[in-house]
Amino acid sequence: MAVTQEQVLDALRTVEDPDLHRDIVSLGFIKDVRIEGETVDFTIELTTPACPMRDQMKVQAEACVAALPGVTAARAKMTANVRSRVPPSPESIPGIRNVVAVGAGKGGVGKTTAAVNLAVALSLDGARVGLIDGDVYGPNVPQMLGIDAPPEVTPERRLVPPQVHGVKVVSMGMLVPPDQAVIWRGPMLHSAVQQFLHDVEWGELDYLVVDLPPGTGDVSLSMAQSVPLAGAILVTTPQGVAISDVRKAVGMFRQLRVPVLGVIENMSHFVCGHCGQRTDIFGHGGGQAMAEQMGIPFLGEIPIDTTVRLGSDEGRPIVIGAPESAAALAFRNVARQAAAQISIQTARTLPLPLVSAPKS
Ligand SMILES: Nc1ncnc2c1ncn2[C@@H]1O[C@H](COP(=O)(O)OP(=O)(O)OP(=O)(O)O)[C@@H](O)[C@H]1O
Ligand SMILES: [Mg+2]
Repeated sequence: MAVTQEQVLDALRTVEDPDLHRDIVSLGFIKDVRIEGETVDFTIELTTPACPMRDQMKVQAEACVAALPGVTAARAKMTANVRSRVPPSPESIPGIRNVVAVGAGKGGVGKTTAAVNLAVALSLDGARVGLIDGDVYGPNVPQMLGIDAPPEVTPERRLVPPQVHGVKVVSMGMLVPPDQAVIWRGPMLHSAVQQFLHDVEWGELDYLVVDLPPGTGDVSLSMAQSVPLAGAILVTTPQGVAISDVRKAVGMFRQLRVPVLGVIENMSHFVCGHCGQRTDIFGHGGGQAMAEQMGIPFLGEIPIDTTVRLGSDEGRPIVIGAPESAAALAFRNVARQAAAQISIQTARTLPLPLVSAPKS
């Protein structure tokens, strides 16, 4: 006897999304169940293409359907539909699902390096990604991505962001000559932020990453007030002074009711290229301990690696330039953990099922 659609769905109910703690059928992830003889094909529509559990869920789902009597082959096609955490409002940008701020920590801890690598990593996983360089006074993103031409402007005077390594980018660094300083006061900063958000041809984006300048100043505030943020990712190094700056940033985002998606510990340790010995230059584990203490997710640690810096200086982020290096793999993992946190936050605000249920 041929297997029925009901039996397939019942089998799939045993597979749980480990981040959302629900089975993948009641979450509405299963689409297009097709039964042809003893072969079953179905689609699993996740909430992010950068899901850290994607491969594991595929294997599990295929195995439990293949174990049904009358089935000899089960094939899952993995897709994703990224939802917005916040309902549409006059401030939200049409087509952009999640605006994610990175930074607001101590100067020089690697916020921009993290923002650039996370944006490219999300794009490598198949997400549609944009990147705003929110450091209006010290824009580093163009150099880190090797952008040296000004963006095009439409007849309606909207910027067309160039696309680099799959990521659409805007930065003040593309608009002023490299050696010219931007000397602006608060209100002008606010209008620059507004323009980067609203006067750019972003198109459809799953994630718009915003690299914030150090500290909890004007740009961070403007950003949090100009657009509903999906959340903020904070970057620290392991030592005490950097960590206390991140605590302040956590306080700021909590006051602004922006979910803190997690903390990244950058420059976490150094592995000697000659002897392989590991040295914890700035200490180790401070980021994780602080995250646990403050009740926020720890997204992962990135080692110190000269290739990270060289890649930044040469416009080739390490996830592209040395994709198999420990630092690149760490950035890929952190990007997936961050995407999972956005999905978790979204699931808290949206009714189930998250995606439309299959037609029977
Ligand atoms: N994991 C790493 N290994 C080696 N070098 C790194 C690492 N992370 C960042 N760097 C280097 O450290 C320097 C500072 O990084 P970055 O500009 O990303 O910091 P930032 O926090 O954005 O600084 P600012 O506060 O000025 O905006 C850069 O030269 C960068 O290449
Ligand atoms: Mg920076």
